Amino acid sequence: MNYRHAFHAGNFADCAKHALIHAIVAALGRKPAPFRVLDTHAGIGLYDLRSSEARRTGEWRDGIGRLETVEDGPLLPWLSLVRGFPRGTYPGSPALVRAMLRPADRLALCELHPEDHAALRAAFRRDARVAVHRRDAWEAIGALTPFPERRGLVLMDPPFEAEGEFARLADAMAALSRRFRGAVQAAWYPIKHRAPARAFLDALAASGTRDVIACELWLREPTDPARLNGCGLAVANPPFGFREEAGAILAALHARLDEGEAGGGWTVREVVPE
Ligand SMILES: C[S@@+](CC[C@H](N)C(=O)[O-])C[C@H]1O[C@@H](n2cnc3c(N)ncnc32)[C@H](O)[C@@H]1O
Repeated sequence: MNYRHAFHAGNFADCAKHALIHAIVAALGRKPAPFRVLDTHAGIGLYDLRSSEARRTGEWRDGIGRLETVEDGPLLPWLSLVRGFPRGTYPGSPALVRAMLRPADRLALCELHPEDHAALRAAFRRDARVAVHRRDAWEAIGALTPFPERRGLVLMDPPFEAEGEFARLADAMAALSRRFRGAVQAAWYPIKHRAPARAFLDALAASGTRDVIACELWLREPTDPARLNGCGLAVANPPFGFREEAGAILAALHARLDEGEAGGGWTVREVVPE
């Protein structure tokens, strides 16, 4: 396991993922019944943007670093929460979701890397609403679902360092939609060039998973397979109104993060109907 998210925290792809996740969790919180979030690939939770890893790549400067002056619009609910964390830090998905839990809501986190798991465990020690597991994400999805609350979000955010990660993700989503029909599912994927992302969405459509949308942002024409040109979030069973909200979020992000290269854009589109 070579991937360490500390090098990438707060980059454009994190901003897209986290702004969208914020909208999903906010929607879950609009109903009084408790919900649970399972974050299958959690990372360490909260990132120090002054760390040697973050400084080495500087990726956050072209992501969250470009959003410092946003004062209104569809990014503000997420950014207000981010700005509530200490200056120079950036909340990854565990810290973000934890900040949105109500007293009866729960968060389960899985992280396999020994050092990142230790950091995650330390960050949420003695937090009765959060359970931290050192277990394989794909195995955990079967073991930890359906939720006792019967509602919530399963967030899948693999590092895409291993062969076959797209296929594993499509299989996991299909299996989960069979065992826990009511769950909202959100799966992050890279867009380096178009073909693998398109094949993933085709596989999802063929798998029988229902009600899936793809939310994508790309900063340049995705033709260079060696570069992270864009990213997507496949959302199954999206909350009411999320599709429109996702479009507004991605449009606002694109306007701020576009680097002036040819061929950038965003889309929110139906992959499989309800
Ligand atoms: C992209 S990062 C997660 C970032 C995090 N979701 C966020 O948004 O802040 C992926 C994480 O998954 C972990 N990981 C990789 N394979 C895993 C597996 N099979 N089960 C659990 N965690 C895994 C990696 O160590 C890494 O920390």
